[in-house]
Parts: sequence; C-alpha cells; structure tokens
Amino acid sequence: MSDLKRQAEDVRSSFEQAIASVTATDALQELRVRYLGKKGELTALLKSLGKLPPDERPQAGEAVNALRGQIEEKIERKKQDLTRAEDAAAEALDKVDVTLPSRGRPAGAFHPVAQTMHEIVSIMLGLGYSVALGPEIEEEHYNFECLNMPSWHPARDMQDTFYFPADEETGRRLLRTHTSPVQVRSMLQYGAPLRIVCPGKVYRRDNDPTHSPMFNQLEGLLVEEDVSFSVLKGSLRELMNGFFGRELKNRFRASYFPFTEPSMELDIECVECGGKNLSCRVCKGTGWLEVCGMGMVHPFVVRSGGIDPERYNGFAFGLGLDRMAMLKYGINDLRLLFDGNVSYFLSGRDA
Ligand code: PHE
Repeated sequence: MSDLKRQAEDVRSSFEQAIASVTATDALQELRVRYLGKKGELTALLKSLGKLPPDERPQAGEAVNALRGQIEEKIERKKQDLTRAEDAAAEALDKVDVTLPSRGRPAGAFHPVAQTMHEIVSIMLGLGYSVALGPEIEEEHYNFECLNMPSWHPARDMQDTFYFPADEETGRRLLRTHTSPVQVRSMLQYGAPLRIVCPGKVYRRDNDPTHSPMFNQLEGLLVEEDVSFSVLKGSLRELMNGFFGRELKNRFRASYFPFTEPSMELDIECVECGGKNLSCRVCKGTGWLEVCGMGMVHPFVVRSGGIDPERYNGFAFGLGLDRMAMLKYGINDLRLLFDGNVSYFLSGRDA
C-alpha cells in the first residue's frame, strides 16, 4: 500500500471516530472545516497527490476522491439528522403545557365586562333587587311594541336593528337592541311589586371605535306603589358611588325615551380628571360623563306588563356595562374588550 493510501485510511478512521461523537450542528460544522476546509486534513491529502510519481497518481487520486465523496455524504446525512433533532427539541421547548399550574398570576380571571357586571349586580342585590334574564333573539313585540315604540318609530329602522327573515308563525324576530324588553317579560312573569336588574348582550348595526355591533347593557326596573323620582335618584347615586368606590358629583338631565315619562339621563363627574382638565380625553373637557338613561316607567309599559298603572308605578334605567368597565379600568378602545388578546390586561396587572 502506498504511503498516500495509508494516510487516506488514517484520515478515514479518525473521521469516523470524530463524527460518531458529534451531537450538534455547530460541532459538525467544525468537523467539516477540519477535514474539508482549505487547511483540512483531506484537502492536504488532495494537495499531496501532485507530488506522487505520475503512474501512481490515477489510483491514489481515485481513492482520495472517493474518500472525499464519502466524507461529504456522511456529513450531509448527519446534518439532516441533527437539524431534525434540534428542531424537535426547540419545538418542545416552545410548547405550552396547559396542564401546568400558573406561575405568579391567578389561574384565571374575569373579563373586565363580566367583573363590572358582577360588581354592579352585587350592589343592586344589596338594594333588594333580583336578577332576571331574557332572550337575545327577541320578538318585535317585546323589543318595541310593548315599550311604546309603534311600527313607525325610527329606532325600528332596518338601519339600526338586526332582523331575522320574517316567519309566518312568530312574526318578525330580531336581535334585541336593548335589555328593556326584559322589563315587560318580567312584569308579565312576576307581577308587582318588582325589583329586578337584567344584564345581557344587546345588538345594533353599529361598528366603529366607540360602537360595537354587540355590547352589554344592564337594565334596572322597580315597580311598587307610590314610587317617586327621588328613589330613582338615590338608587343610582348608590350604584355609581358603590361602583367607583367614592362620592361622585352627579346631575340629572332631561331626556327622551318612548318607554319612560319623564325621562332623564344621569351624568357623573369625570372619573379621570374630576372636571379639572380641559383637554381630558375621557370627558372631552366637559367634566361630565353620560352613564345612564332612565325615567319613570310609562303607564303604557306598565299596562303592557299586565300591571294596573292606576295602582302601581315605577322607574327603569339602562346603562352600558362596556362603557362602565372602560371608565373604571381606564380602557380607551372598546374593541380591546372583544378582540380576545389578554396581554393588554395582564400587562396592566403586572406593571
Ligand atoms: N333602553 C335604553 C337604551 O338602550 C336605556 C333606557 C333603559 C332608558 C330604561 C330608560 C329606561 O338606550
């Protein structure tokens, strides 16, 4: 055996040993340089071919080139194996094991709107109210007719309301546009006296940064004998101060709803600036926040609920739970509440 051939065998066996102990792609790259690089062991053999006597060159050249081919192939195959294993390991590291206990944070939390709903409901339970619920797919009859909004009423417009295709048996059904139909359903179901709050989803054909086609309301209804407007004012003051955790200035403005008479809207002092910042982004510098529509229940509605308006009267109010959540938790874009990205809320908590 010529010297060169022996050297080639030495290179082969040292390579075989070396590659067997390589376990990572970067070590494999070093190995490639050590054998096939410019100053590599195999490259040195190739270079020395030129020093052989001409008659030995073809045979020796063939052997060294064959060895190079085998080394290249083995490195390539090993590279594929190692890359696959490294990718799998990285993927395993990335995987979230949902069965593990959480670190640092509580294992779950209420959505801010659900949290808001629970807080308001619990204040109202303290004032003697019960919770009543109604269907989100509602009949025109309860959503509009019973609430003193006859067929010509502008709020019944197709532009504002999601209607289902008409059905001969049930008439035209719709996604309720407010929680007020639960007033009538509850009066019919329970009679008077009655104190209820009705939280739930409502739907309108609206979609922009401050309006969502689905949002959440909470309705309140009290029907008793000799109810005065001052009871309504006191109850709402209790609700707002309880919810925001401090005494807030408030004002009642005359307004209009077909189902209450007289109707009012409640403004509270801006919870962000207290009316002290003319460029406040929350109250737009007015110092006031509109939070709630209300009024004394219209006798027409009391009668729709099967109750004698000569004997009983009452009040009702409706507020937006999403808006209340945004005000309390400093959330400035309504859409954040519905896009399912929890990092916004979690980062707030960690900070
Ligand atoms: N239903 C009204 C609305 O959606 C709110 C409201 C409820 C007003 C009860 C008065 C009484 O805007």
